[in-house]
Amino acid sequence: MNSVSAQHSRVLSGMRPTGRLHLGHYHGVLKNWVELQHEHECFFFVADWHALTTHYDDPSVVPASVRDMVIDWLAAGVDTEKATLFVQSHVPEHAELHLLLSMITPLGWLERVPSYKDQQEKLKEKDLATYGFLGYPLLQSADILIYKAGYVPVGEDQVAHVELTREVARRFNHIYGREADFEEKAEQAKKKMGKKNAKAFDRYRRAYQEQGDLDALTSARDLLESQQNITDSDRERLFGFLEGGGRIILVEPQPLLTKASKMPGLDGQKMSKSYGNTISLRESPESLETILKRMPTDTNRVRRTDPGDPAKCPVWQFHEVYSNDGIKAWVQEGCRSAGIGCLDCKAPVIESVLAELRPMQARAEAFEAQPELVDDIIAAGCERAREVAKETMAEVRQVMSLDRF
Ligand code: TRP
Ligand code: SF4
Repeated sequence: MNSVSAQHSRVLSGMRPTGRLHLGHYHGVLKNWVELQHEHECFFFVADWHALTTHYDDPSVVPASVRDMVIDWLAAGVDTEKATLFVQSHVPEHAELHLLLSMITPLGWLERVPSYKDQQEKLKEKDLATYGFLGYPLLQSADILIYKAGYVPVGEDQVAHVELTREVARRFNHIYGREADFEEKAEQAKKKMGKKNAKAFDRYRRAYQEQGDLDALTSARDLLESQQNITDSDRERLFGFLEGGGRIILVEPQPLLTKASKMPGLDGQKMSKSYGNTISLRESPESLETILKRMPTDTNRVRRTDPGDPAKCPVWQFHEVYSNDGIKAWVQEGCRSAGIGCLDCKAPVIESVLAELRPMQARAEAFEAQPELVDDIIAAGCERAREVAKETMAEVRQVMSLDRF
């Protein structure tokens, strides 16, 4: 990890508002966010512009999901004392940074992002040969870089986007600032001039930087010009160092890989909206019971007296998530010997899911009853996020010479 990211332990992550959150989101993402907020300054946002990259033909689903999603975050335990919650489109600086980054981003970098081709394949019914879709990983880079986040909790599928973000930041700093270990390299270059010259250089540099002594600046420049022992790039480094350059403007983030959610769907595949196998975080207790009772089991257990194999049963995967060793042993034994029926087996799972969702649903209901409170939380978060974003943009505009006219 480079030293700059170590200083920047801010966490940022976003979620697309394209429908109701389910248990997969809770186990895969939200539980992780709730933990991170205790250790880091966190920014979590609703990526509504991102949703448009794939849902541009039906944008009405987006606003309908925004408040619902924030309520689910709050219900899951995201704490507004600890985390800033906001909506991307309410911080238009993201769009400005995206535009400016687009100037320096080679087309090939975007075309090479794996999700570009993958998603086009997967969502064949949509025309994703759009400029917005190609550019969406760069929009994500802008989301991250504008907060100088050091860490980005994401799933496996998003790691390439964080990689792209690092490359874009590096390129930006290279063009408009200096490389990450600039000071260190400058110090090393300085040593190559010999002790006496290095000392003189330090003296001139201090006089120039602290007192604005222009004679000292000239002397230092002459000193650098006369050096035979240093390479041209070291000389350039020292020129920048002398004049106080070498600022890192955009911070390279690290991905914080979220372990693949162990939460299976009702059919045993990964829980995902596109498979239609989800359990919504707001599922009513009655419907939850019905759904779980109907959930498929080992297909070899046709009759109650047929023995089964938990390894071939989606219900077993739920036990892996929810049950203690005692219950698991009871399932293994009872299933293989046909000692228990599938409904018996499901009972503790139903109990556990209900117990997990009960407090969340109670909190969600309380927020749902006070939509103004939720809107206030979002408005305050947007304001706070915007302050940070504006600061970064002021620096970005300055180094790109956009602050002078
Ligand atoms: N692209 C992410 C997704 O589809 C959402 C997202 C947008 C995001 N901007 C981000 C995630 C910035 C982390 C950081 O899930
Ligand atoms: Fe699945 Fe349990 Fe039925 Fe065995 S007893 S098939 S593990 S539901």
